[in-house]
Amino acid sequence: MQPYFNEQQIVQIYHVSKRFKHNCQALEDITLEVEKGDFIFITGPSGAGKTTLLKLLFVEERPTSGQIIVLGRNLNRVRESNLHRLRRQVGVVFQDFRLLKDRTVFKNIDFVLRLYGHPPKVREKKAWQILSMVGLEKKIDSYPLELSGGEQQRIAIARAIVNDPPLILADEPTGNLDQKREEEIMAIFNQINARGATLIIATHNRSMISRMGKKVVSLDNGRLVSGAVM
Ligand SMILES: Nc1ncnc2c1ncn2[C@@H]1O[C@H](COP(=O)(O)OP(=O)(O)O)[C@@H](O)[C@H]1O
Ligand SMILES: [Mg+2]
Repeated sequence: MQPYFNEQQIVQIYHVSKRFKHNCQALEDITLEVEKGDFIFITGPSGAGKTTLLKLLFVEERPTSGQIIVLGRNLNRVRESNLHRLRRQVGVVFQDFRLLKDRTVFKNIDFVLRLYGHPPKVREKKAWQILSMVGLEKKIDSYPLELSGGEQQRIAIARAIVNDPPLILADEPTGNLDQKREEEIMAIFNQINARGATLIIATHNRSMISRMGKKVVSLDNGRLVSGAVM
């Protein structure tokens, strides 16, 4: 089947499989469509393929077979040299945060603001606003390793959303947070979703998923076990 681009859909995944070296089948024949403005949880046990699926959407990994269309672009046809354009429109919260350890919190946020070419005054204001939103404006001059795991996670979230990207991917974004912080972060995600952003969040936290009452896609052993939209 040849996928066709549908404007309503921000992510289209067609019969995607991913096999790693040593014969590990991480994903098998996944077909899934995500509409603009959706807020979707991807869940499943450890090793189910959640992280791999997000990595395919961000083109950190390539599928072994199948096709993926993100924001209207077929990822199989996007050249490596043009990936930065696509990535600018996708905010990612990595499971391991990936903060720049030798730069302050401000510089970590400023780094992505610069991609949009904002003037320095605007960048400062935006950085301060987003850090207040995640409750860390006082840490603006700290270095990542001076922060707790939960604080680093909130910086990673701030960095992913500061440019208002239309698509946000987050891998276990509340893994290091207690329930109060988790609820604060989910409230922020709800807010940016209400402003039109699409969110795809991988988590094995079933209680958070049931509290949120959003769409859920379940993976097990690389296969979609429920929530397929088709
Ligand atoms: N780079 C890799 N090389 C080989 N196997 C991998 C790699 N990344 C993930 N895997 C395997 O793929 C499967 C799915 O992993 P992952 O997507 O990280 O699952 P989850 O995020 O749901 O815990 C696991 O069996 C894992 O060991
Ligand atoms: Mg994972």
